[in-house]
Amino acid sequence: GLVDKEGHRHFMAKEIHEQPEVIAHTISRYVDPSTKTVRLPNGVFDFAKLDRLTVTACGTAYYAGLVSKYWFEKWAKLPIEIDVASELRYRDVPWTKNGGALFISQSGETADTLAALRDARANGQQIATVVNVAESSIAREADIIFPMAAGPEIGVASTKAFTCQLVSLACIAIAAGRIRGTLTAEEESVLVTSLLEIPRLVSEALKQSDKIETIARDIAKATGIFYIGRGVSYPIALEGALKLKEISYIHAEGYAAGELKHGPIALIDENLPIVVIAPKDAHFEKTVSNMQEVMARDGKALMVSCKDGIAEAGGKTWAAIETPQTHPMLAPIVYTVPVQLLAYFTATTKGTDVDQPRNLAKSVTVE
Ligand code: G6P
Repeated sequence: GLVDKEGHRHFMAKEIHEQPEVIAHTISRYVDPSTKTVRLPNGVFDFAKLDRLTVTACGTAYYAGLVSKYWFEKWAKLPIEIDVASELRYRDVPWTKNGGALFISQSGETADTLAALRDARANGQQIATVVNVAESSIAREADIIFPMAAGPEIGVASTKAFTCQLVSLACIAIAAGRIRGTLTAEEESVLVTSLLEIPRLVSEALKQSDKIETIARDIAKATGIFYIGRGVSYPIALEGALKLKEISYIHAEGYAAGELKHGPIALIDENLPIVVIAPKDAHFEKTVSNMQEVMARDGKALMVSCKDGIAEAGGKTWAAIETPQTHPMLAPIVYTVPVQLLAYFTATTKGTDVDQPRNLAKSVTVE
């Protein structure tokens, strides 16, 4: 049925493993595989006229928004800003006349996000949402609903909703680029081809489960852990750290790889594991050099990269998780899987209540 664990120990495990399927569903809502183009629902923002996009969300959905910033800037050359919903209203946002506001939410009921939506509406913005629950308050109050097809998510720690949000946002940013004339048909076709490969690559990434479970036995003993990434991988470092603290109660921090040397490196010693999100992209060498700075201080580096990346730089790391190579801009979708599994198995090793972690709620309806 829709809401049983289908043989998995926890809803979270079931939802992690559903990702190839729900990601494929979400892609099919946007992509025409025969023409290799992205279609958007009718009546969306006039991206050609849009002068600014304000993206707002909470928690995991906020990190999806952070990834989309890199996409909208690169493909659509669209000025975009992103903030957490609980802060947006406390700033004097310089709203523009042709501004759009995009709200990302799994539940569609998060009080902070809804309040931020109403604030953007009061300031004359066109309102769109990437939302999972179609009959929710946020869906009702938005002008435009961008679909995502994650299906019901029961585990409090968001997993499949996050990757489906990423897929939706990637498609919206690609279409925005085409409409604004900043992405060529050729570039669109390359990206769509890569998107269509993602469900298979996510299945591939899931095959590292057993290896990650073994690594998690050591991670479970740590009192603190860092995650680092650069560019589109930076928000995945943040999401990895959030997932770990939510369900394993281990203190975790995500950092931009280049910021590590500006403070947190002081904490590195042989007891502090550091997860390095390092897909093979233009930033690979720099991220590896940050990893080596950690290793030089006896930090335990866990490298997450593709086969070639690990062969090139992973020789002396404490551990490595092989993750399939994809289009470098789309790597966040695939690289989310190992950080989800690492959090999951760390929590099951510790024996915490994975689906109902202490103090957390699936949907937070107070500000
Ligand atoms: C809660 C949940 C998080 C979620 C956040 C935003 O804090 O525990 O997992 O990311 O709310 O929820 P939303 O439904 O708006 O995406």
